[in-house]
Amino acid sequence: MKPVSDTAVQRAYQVRIALFLISAFIGIFLLISIYRGIATLDTLDQTERERDRWQRPGDVIQALGLKDTNVVVDIGAGAGYFALKLSPIVGKHGSVVAVDILKEPLLFLCIRSFLRNQWNIHTIHGLPNNPRLRVGSADAVLIANTYHEFTQPRSILDHVFQSTEARRATSHSRPCAPIGCGGIP
Ligand SMILES: C[S@@+](CC[C@H](N)C(=O)[O-])C[C@H]1O[C@@H](n2cnc3c(N)ncnc32)[C@H](O)[C@@H]1O
Repeated sequence: MKPVSDTAVQRAYQVRIALFLISAFIGIFLLISIYRGIATLDTLDQTERERDRWQRPGDVIQALGLKDTNVVVDIGAGAGYFALKLSPIVGKHGSVVAVDILKEPLLFLCIRSFLRNQWNIHTIHGLPNNPRLRVGSADAVLIANTYHEFTQPRSILDHVFQSTEARRATSHSRPCAPIGCGGIP
């Protein structure tokens, strides 16, 4: 058997140290991310409880006239303040389609809906001019505290009306309920 040289042993040792440092770095990074994620989830819950006092979410949702099995779209859903509240209203045979142009709030919404066992919430990563909804797929659309952020509102509204087109005639729900920062008037 060929003897292993000192240089080879030393190189193997250096590789092991490098691997250990990389794993430790990744581990620390993951722990910090998890810690920050949990802190964000906590903050979201806390801010939303305070928001419940003035936002009148019950009135907003009632204005949509939803019923069990409906498909309701929340455009500009953020981390899901309304989407999570809409979920039990449409029930397990209905669905909430949460659209946002940012992936991070949608990720938090996914985690929150998973933690709450709300399996009827689906997310769509929308474009600034297109929420990427299927034509005739929605019973109602909520645009809450978001309209002022649209850079191409006309295009968004065209898509919104196309998405509710087929169902508008038969549904009792309101096709579109945009509300501003102060809640419904
Ligand atoms: C102020 S937050 C409101 C979030 C949520 N509706 C609420 O009431 O808590 C506005 C959200 O709209 C999203 N947004 C802005 N323009 C959008 C667009 N064109 N399509 C979808 N989402 C959009 C932003 O990324 C942001 O998450």
